[in-house]
Amino acid sequence: MDLQALENQFKTLFGKTPEYAYFAPGRVNLIGDHTDYNGGLVFPCALSFGTYLLAAQRDDRHNAFRSLNFEYAGTTDATAFSNKPKEWIAYPLGVMKEFADLGHPVWGYDLLYYGNIPNGAGLSSSASIEMVTATMLNDLTGAGLTKVELAQLSQKAENQFVGMNCGIMDQFAVGMGKKDCAIALDCATLHYEYVPLVLDGYKLIIANTNKRRGLADSKYNERRSECEEAIKYISTQHNITHLCQLTEEEFEACASLIPDETIRRRARHAISENQRVIRAITALKAGDLTTFGQLMNDSHRSLKEDYEVTGIELDTLAGESQQFPGVLGSRMTGAGFGGCTVSLVQNGQAEAYIREVGKNYQAKTGLEATFYIAQIGEGAYKLY
Ligand code: GLA
Repeated sequence: MDLQALENQFKTLFGKTPEYAYFAPGRVNLIGDHTDYNGGLVFPCALSFGTYLLAAQRDDRHNAFRSLNFEYAGTTDATAFSNKPKEWIAYPLGVMKEFADLGHPVWGYDLLYYGNIPNGAGLSSSASIEMVTATMLNDLTGAGLTKVELAQLSQKAENQFVGMNCGIMDQFAVGMGKKDCAIALDCATLHYEYVPLVLDGYKLIIANTNKRRGLADSKYNERRSECEEAIKYISTQHNITHLCQLTEEEFEACASLIPDETIRRRARHAISENQRVIRAITALKAGDLTTFGQLMNDSHRSLKEDYEVTGIELDTLAGESQQFPGVLGSRMTGAGFGGCTVSLVQNGQAEAYIREVGKNYQAKTGLEATFYIAQIGEGAYKLY
């Protein structure tokens, strides 16, 4: 759907012309999953698809929410802050509450959301809704927050209003993305660097398992608690607040402090994954895509065996991809428990890859995968 079609939808729904329009992308993480809340590195990029938000002023102090993706529609005032709706409007409302808590006026808008990111696919459709809302409110209230502050505010909204204890990666990538670059982000300090994605002869292909992420949020929060438990044991002898402060060698030397084998594996993943991100960034900068791909494969294995966030669909799709000729690497991306893989595929093999891997995946799981050739775009911005 193009912008004009969206404006027509707005007119049909609200009987007026939109006055403002904003866009926030989705993201794909190339390597470094479940490291952000462990104070480690991540390496995501913003995608060219995302969420559009069209808005116009209303005469009262309510906000009317409509979406072309979700049926639920609502018109509400500040009472929604205490009622915490379960529907999708919890994402924008959480952001509105953060702005309201800072003393900014957030009511009096007709709002139409439309996203072309597949929902629940682990490409940050939620962060995209949050960040497009934050970008609008920052503009219309004159709050003057930086994009990094908007990302932090949106993360807080998701943690406190939605109840998902996510780290900072998604909102940061959605806000700070840069065309044809990945972001090397240190989640402990928020220091970041743009690394040009020079993939001579290769494409990044995203494949959606189309498995719904059923228990994703509760399992995610469970993993986070497991990492906190690991720190409790390790910090009896090491002065650390985040797992990713340790190298793999330091961890192996003190792993026996953790009595539970499962918790030990969770910590091992976070720490080894962080080191893989460091090596992957170095490899990409040196144009060594073979090493980059190998690290992607190692990352998937760690997420499967030590962190246990993959499942049959992601493992099948990543496994089929890794074996396919001309594929340098393949891994799950995002939280896991369903969602997408990202693979580094030789240009000339892209078509055959999509056809054959799609066929084998369907034969093994009964599900049809959807493939996207990733276009790396800009972080959130105002259209008008
Ligand atoms: C989700 C969260 C992120 C991050 C990833 C896993 O996308 O929102 O903060 O933890 O999972 O890397």
